[in-house]
Amino acid sequence: MEKKNVLKKPSIDEMTAFCKRKGFIVRSGEIYGGLAGFWDYLFLGSELKNNLKNAWWQFHVRERDDIEGIDGAIITHPDVWKASGHVDSFSDVFVVCKKCKKPGKVDKSELGKVKCECGGEYDSSSAKEFKLMFKTEVGLKDYGYLRPETAQLIFANFKAVFDGARMKLPCGIAQMGKAFRNEIAPRNFIFRCREFEQMEIEYFIKPKEKCPYDIPNVEVLVLASGETKEKKMSLKEAHKKKIIKKDWHAYWLGQELSFFKSLGANLDNFRIRQHDREELAHYSSDCWDLEYNFPFGWKELQGIADRSDYDLKQHQKFSKTKMEVLDEETKERFIPEVICEPSLGVERALLVFLYEAYNEREKENIVLNFNPKLSPVKVGVFPLIKKEEFENIGLSIFHNLRKKWNVVYDKSGSIGRRYARQDEIGTPYCITIDGDSVDSGTVTIRNRDTTLQKKIKIEKLEETLGKLLYGELPFESLK
Ligand code: GAP
Repeated sequence: MEKKNVLKKPSIDEMTAFCKRKGFIVRSGEIYGGLAGFWDYLFLGSELKNNLKNAWWQFHVRERDDIEGIDGAIITHPDVWKASGHVDSFSDVFVVCKKCKKPGKVDKSELGKVKCECGGEYDSSSAKEFKLMFKTEVGLKDYGYLRPETAQLIFANFKAVFDGARMKLPCGIAQMGKAFRNEIAPRNFIFRCREFEQMEIEYFIKPKEKCPYDIPNVEVLVLASGETKEKKMSLKEAHKKKIIKKDWHAYWLGQELSFFKSLGANLDNFRIRQHDREELAHYSSDCWDLEYNFPFGWKELQGIADRSDYDLKQHQKFSKTKMEVLDEETKERFIPEVICEPSLGVERALLVFLYEAYNEREKENIVLNFNPKLSPVKVGVFPLIKKEEFENIGLSIFHNLRKKWNVVYDKSGSIGRRYARQDEIGTPYCITIDGDSVDSGTVTIRNRDTTLQKKIKIEKLEETLGKLLYGELPFESLK
């Protein structure tokens, strides 16, 4: 992906305004002033989000032999959340900043240690516990919770999936979908919302089982627990030096970084950070976060926790359903351990890809250099001038291509303006119908990233676009 004339990355407020202006994302209930922490995905945002989720599912579920996917309910039996510990302990501490007087939230472990974004100290006398789950009525007299993570549905269905799909350890179960948290201080656009989506995997092993996979060959900034400065190194080196203690952690960190790289992200903007002991969640014995260098600082993009056998044991205890599996060698039964839980927020990943793609060309022109798999619109079709024979060819191409992809047909304005409109929303290829299309059945295809143009026969168009969009053919190789 060629990046041209990167002038500056937008602030989070500029990105919010850009996404609204172009039809990606707006505050939910905007016409009534919006509701903090809730966002609506419009005609481009919904396509972008679906493309991201499909790419995640393809990479993590369909292309692997050892992972199956599920789609659980948003409201489930409330005992699921008692067993998991959420009812008792899923809370933050509400605090008010002494300097700017704004409300903020801290984790229980951070009380007295972290400061407000303005640099001010939090007033400890204002601190009070704040439960994060949304409670709702179910029928006339029952109640339920909107799920605060997708993970528990995986644990509650573990035996049904493991036995039903005849899985063998090591193996994983994946889920993507909505999660809800009554965040005290939603902020930074879609970075922290009250309604969001997660893409999660619970990866199960036999206790002490070694990772049979190679650690991906990835270099990244590494910030180990207790260190103040990150160091660039390969994941293999970090594991060899025992900075990343478990082979499984090094492997999954590598997988997740490879996923971002496969969709065009520059890994120089990422780092991995190990949680300090007091930061670890109640269920976790080790956790590494993938962080991204957002305009508002290094922030958590994805958590990769070791959850041990905590959740399956809890569900076995509360539901009285056996969560054990059979060890084929020793014929003993045991509860598998979750060695890694790669848990990624859709909104945060989407924000990363927006920042990675956002570039300014020449003076004012914004170009979104999305990987074509993510682009909300794949192809723009333009008749060069408003003449019936040009438009007939254009419409026939448009109707044919839109059976496969999201395609737009645009006949208004100068051709330069039409290209610019598509560049701004990240459309990777534009097709122009001109005099040669009428005379000799060729069209011009233009590459967003280089602005290079090539002539191509109409009958070859669909096949060629298919290869270009999935990275199977370099544009320069077109004759
Ligand atoms: N099952 C583990 C779990 O839920 P988490 O660290 O609380 O762990 C995982 O959340 C990921 O979900 C985060 O790394 C982030 O990407 C996303 N996430 C969490 N809270 C969010 C929020 N309020 N808004 C947007 N994304 C959020």
